[in-house]
This record gives sequence, C-alpha cells and structure tokens, in this order.
Amino acid sequence: MTSTSQARQYIDLEEKYGAHNYHPLPVVLSKGKGCYVWDVDGKKYFDFLSAYSAVNQGHSHPKIVAALREQAERLCLTSRAFYNDALGPYERFMHDYFGYDKILPMNSGAEAVETALKLARKWGYLNKGIPENEAIIVACNGNFHGRTITIVSLSSDSDARAEYGPYTPGIEVIPYNDVEALSSLFEEKAASIAGFLVEPIQGEAGVIVPDEGYLKKCHELCKAHNVLFIADEIQTGIGRTGRMLCCDHEGVRPDIVILGKALSGGVLPVSAVLADDEIMLTIKPGQHGSTFGGFPLACKVAMAALEVVKEEKLAEKAKQLGEIFRNEMLAIKSPLIRLVRGKGLLNAIVIAPHKGKDAWILCLKMAENGLLAKPTHGDIIRFAPPLVITEEELMEAIGIIKESIRSLEIAE
Ligand SMILES: Cc1ncc(COP(=O)(O)O)c(C=O)c1O
Repeated sequence: MTSTSQARQYIDLEEKYGAHNYHPLPVVLSKGKGCYVWDVDGKKYFDFLSAYSAVNQGHSHPKIVAALREQAERLCLTSRAFYNDALGPYERFMHDYFGYDKILPMNSGAEAVETALKLARKWGYLNKGIPENEAIIVACNGNFHGRTITIVSLSSDSDARAEYGPYTPGIEVIPYNDVEALSSLFEEKAASIAGFLVEPIQGEAGVIVPDEGYLKKCHELCKAHNVLFIADEIQTGIGRTGRMLCCDHEGVRPDIVILGKALSGGVLPVSAVLADDEIMLTIKPGQHGSTFGGFPLACKVAMAALEVVKEEKLAEKAKQLGEIFRNEMLAIKSPLIRLVRGKGLLNAIVIAPHKGKDAWILCLKMAENGLLAKPTHGDIIRFAPPLVITEEELMEAIGIIKESIRSLEIAE
C-alpha cells in the first residue's frame, strides 16, 4: 500500500511534531459516517476497528451529534464546584439503564479503571477492615486496562511496563481463565484482597474469550471471600458482544462495572464507574474527582448514545451478525488463518505467517481493498465493525477480507 502525496504530508507532520507512541497503518482519515470512513483522497473504507470499540453506534450518529450540538450551545462545562441541570438527570438515567445505585463519571477509560481501584481500596479499608496499606488488587495475565502508572503496574506486557517503574504495590497477577488460580490465591490471602479486576473478554490481548462459566465461578469465589468483582467492560460493554454488558452472558452482576469508549458513541471521552451505595459512598467529598468528569456535554451525549443502543437494538444485531461473521471466517480454508474466535461483533483471526505474509501485510492488503483493521500482538487481527453495520454491508466486508487473503496466498 502506498500513500499519496497528500496523505504523506499528514503522516510526516505527525512523525515530526508528535510523540512516537503509536504505529498506525499509513491511512489518513478525514471523514466518517456509520460503518464507513474516508481518507483525505476520498477513498472509502469499512471501519473494522471502530476506534477500539468506541464507535459502536457508528461514526457521527445523527442523534448523538444533535445532542452534542444542542448542549454545546447551552453549557459545556461547569466543573463540580456547582450543580448543573444535566448531571442529575444523567445519573438517574444511568441508574435506570444499568441498575446500580450510583455512578461516578469520569472521562477516559484509564481514569475510570483508576477510579474503580481507588474505590475498591477504600471499600477494603472502610468496610472489609483490611489493615491500612495492605489492600491487594488481583488482575489477570494478559490484561489491558489502560496506561497510567498503577495500571501498567498490573500489566504483563513488557512494552506497556518497561522503564516505567517503580510500580504500584499491592497487586497480584494470576493467569486469565484459571478459576483454580483465583481460588488458591483467595485461600492464601483473601483477608487482604479488596478486588478482582477482570475483562470479560480480553480485547487488546487479541480477543481472548474465557471458558463458559469462568466469570460466574470467579464471581461466586469473590462473593464467598468478600472480594469485589470488578468488570472492566470498557471494550466489551455497550452491546459489543451481543449483550448490553458482556457479563450478562453469564448472568453475573459485578460489584463494580467500568464503562468507557462507546458510552459516548466515540463522540467525546466519557467513562463511568457503576456501583451500589455500600461501595460508592465510601468516597467522600474531596477524596476523588476530575474537572471534566460528568460535564454537561458528556451527560447529554452519553444519554443519546445509550438510547441509540436500545432503539437500534445494537446488542441483538451484534449477536446475530457476529455469528454470521465467525461462520464465514471459519469457512475460509487458508494456510494464513490459524484460528477464529470472538463473541458478538468482537472477533479476531490469528494469522499463521505464510510465504513471508503476516498480519500487518494482510491489514495493508485489506486497506488497499477498502477495509481497515489493525493487528495486535503481531499475529492477531481484531475485527470489530460499528454495530450499525447491516447484514448486506457485513457480507460485502467479508468479501473484501476473503479476497485479500486469497490474493496474499497466491502472491509470492
Ligand atoms: C478493556 C480496556 N480497559 C481500559 C482501556 C483504556 O481506555 P482509554 O484508552 O480510554 O484510557 C481500554 C482501551 O483500549 C480497554 O480496552
């Protein structure tokens, strides 16, 4: 794939003036609508990344953009030094929508994870009675929860961690999808453990779907040992996997739910932590906050974004279209495809390098053919289109994926 001179200019600007903390595909986008994006030269693509599942409702959804416009002209930001007429209605809306007593609104996903960890520690000290400075948070190998110092302290990815020490103490990392590991850690240390932080599906690790029953068993263990079950639904939540929350597949109600990304339909950074009073009210005025957290613009955008998910039955669509997608991928018999996995419209294929062709080269080929996806961990390609994609559009996109794989198989 070669970039045009116009695209090159933008790439060069980022290269010269921006930090080099990402390695994007050489595509420069300037417009998006629904499941499509267009580059600066007017070429149209299917967006099969959806900004890491932030754009579940599709790019620039008219209802969400209208809410943004209307509120932007009235009142954007008050800070929490004063009340405003958007936050309370949003908090009640979130209570009715997800069934938790309270919400603590934040902005980025990482901030919401930090908030959940702080909440778990507070609860651990004030309610569980863990001796001061001894609280432990348990996380899983292969996790991705964001980029702050504490969060990378949980990480097992050397790129994410290296040279960022010293790391936050009070962390135990166990294998993912391993109930026994959690059980034996609890046997040993439950008295000091405040929370178990888990992704219902590990998205960044390459869409690792745990065994059926894993979440339920972990939840039961948490209950038995008085440990908070904290679900990071930032990537898996809001319809992506075929239910509103991925934990719903197993009938698990987490003690703390963390949401972000699609909470705003990709329009603003909006995140949230949900919990009941016994947990949420352990944080008192002045003990946590953010200038923008719960700002009026975010409140209105998030309500519109969540209404769209229900009105357009996006979770149901993700379930139905996800099955079609996986069946079509499984039907491709290619030496390049080692594995297909996923749930709803959060899917991945694991690439087996073949004749010098790998996941990066396949992504470049798909981009050339009009579909954008990004490799993760070298050999995995995640496919997560906006949930507003129609079956017809999905079949067209599948055609592009198949054609790209075939053309690499025959290319020397
Ligand atoms: C499961 C999960 N948690 C947390 C985050 C961090 O969110 P943000 O990039 O908005 O800080 C991500 C981002 O990819 C994620 O997938």
